Amino acid sequence: MRAMVYRGPYKVRVEEKDRPRIEHPNDAIVRVTVAAICGSDLHLYHGMMPDTRVGMTFGHEFIGVVEEVGSSVQNLKRGDRVMVPFNIFCGSCYFCVRGLYSNCHNVNPNATAVGGIYGYSHTSGGYDGGQSEYVRVPFADVGPTIIPEWLHQEDALMLTDALPTGYFGAQLGDIVEGDTVVVFGAGPVGLFAAKSSWLMGAGRVIVIDHLEYRLAKARSFAQAETYNFTEYKDIVVEMKKTTGFLGADVVIDAVGAEADGNLLQHITAAKLKLQGGSPIALNWAIDSVRKGGTVSVVGAYGPLFSAVKFGDAMNKGLTLRMNQCPVKRQWPRLFEHIQNGYLKPNDIVTHRIPLEQIAEGYHIFSAKLDDCIKPVIVVSAA
Ligand SMILES: NC(=O)c1ccc[n+]([C@@H]2O[C@H](COP(=O)([O-])OP(=O)(O)OC[C@H]3O[C@@H](n4cnc5c(N)ncnc54)[C@H](O)[C@@H]3O)[C@@H](O)[C@H]2O)c1
Ligand SMILES: [Zn+2]
Ligand SMILES: [Zn+2]
Repeated sequence: MRAMVYRGPYKVRVEEKDRPRIEHPNDAIVRVTVAAICGSDLHLYHGMMPDTRVGMTFGHEFIGVVEEVGSSVQNLKRGDRVMVPFNIFCGSCYFCVRGLYSNCHNVNPNATAVGGIYGYSHTSGGYDGGQSEYVRVPFADVGPTIIPEWLHQEDALMLTDALPTGYFGAQLGDIVEGDTVVVFGAGPVGLFAAKSSWLMGAGRVIVIDHLEYRLAKARSFAQAETYNFTEYKDIVVEMKKTTGFLGADVVIDAVGAEADGNLLQHITAAKLKLQGGSPIALNWAIDSVRKGGTVSVVGAYGPLFSAVKFGDAMNKGLTLRMNQCPVKRQWPRLFEHIQNGYLKPNDIVTHRIPLEQIAEGYHIFSAKLDDCIKPVIVVSAA
């Protein structure tokens, strides 16, 4: 089969690879129809995530058609059109029964923190992902769901990660009626977080980035006020000014470990590898929120991370909430919001790229060329 293969930082190719086989009675093999590239894939692509192995296929956002099921699979059959959450989870361990699907204890030999994620380095279990013609789906009775008839296939694809993660970011903010919410990052996750903040009662939503075209999308798609951080000497001071010098009630970090905005942090992190990444977006979040406020972190960070203003967070009495999104937990509510017309997830899709050209897709999305917000990879006919 044809699959995206990682060949080292900034090098991905489409190669011939063995088709995955059923390895366990509860596996399914899914023929992928469309996949997407996520901001998290860029951390792998840039060589920033530990234990990203050459030969690995990325892709944790995908939908497709069931090709084959293992002997104990009961809920799926060949031919079913399924959406697959990015988490691999067992559904029955201590963590899964508490809804912490992203922290499943049974799917990752390194399961002290994150559970399993498709195509996301060996720190997340080392599973091959869905930027590929076929993918092995473990615990097939637990994760995947048959795509409802009324759901557009690109909307289903956005529901495998970007939308639930943005929604989760707003949820972790514990927003109460009238709150001022600041979102750092106007990528897919930040855009969905901003949009979701309104659904949770925010009175004011502000989005911060340095890419003008994405801020324009934050205004049109998420009805947010926007700030380009390169236009201000200190974006934190600006946030103080606009919130009566108290700070925002809730700040959401939808940027993660590869934040721009501070040259020294960039050099020590990306160039010299002295820290696990740049903590600048997280530090801006800690500085921009009011005392006693909440910082919600959905931006991704590697296992070890440094130079975070943890003492300021402590002394401000902040609540810090964070996790990889437990995707399937968000689906029932998000289905309602989509059916009611409150959310139109595929509005953020800007590019549709054939699998064979995925290297170009990574380049465009990584370098933020051609006003790219969300690239969809077209793999096979639906
Ligand atoms: N927690 C989860 O379950 C989960 C799921 C999906 C994605 N993620 C993570 O969420 C983050 C965003 O994902 P995405 O797909 O939207 O990625 P993306 O790369 O498209 O978007 C990131 C945005 O942040 C902006 N940015 C960079 N530095 C900034 C700064 N200092 N302040 C404000 N904005 C800044 C960039 O210009 C870009 O627009 C990534 O770290 C990704 O790994 C986490
Ligand atoms: Zn993702
Ligand atoms: Zn589990």
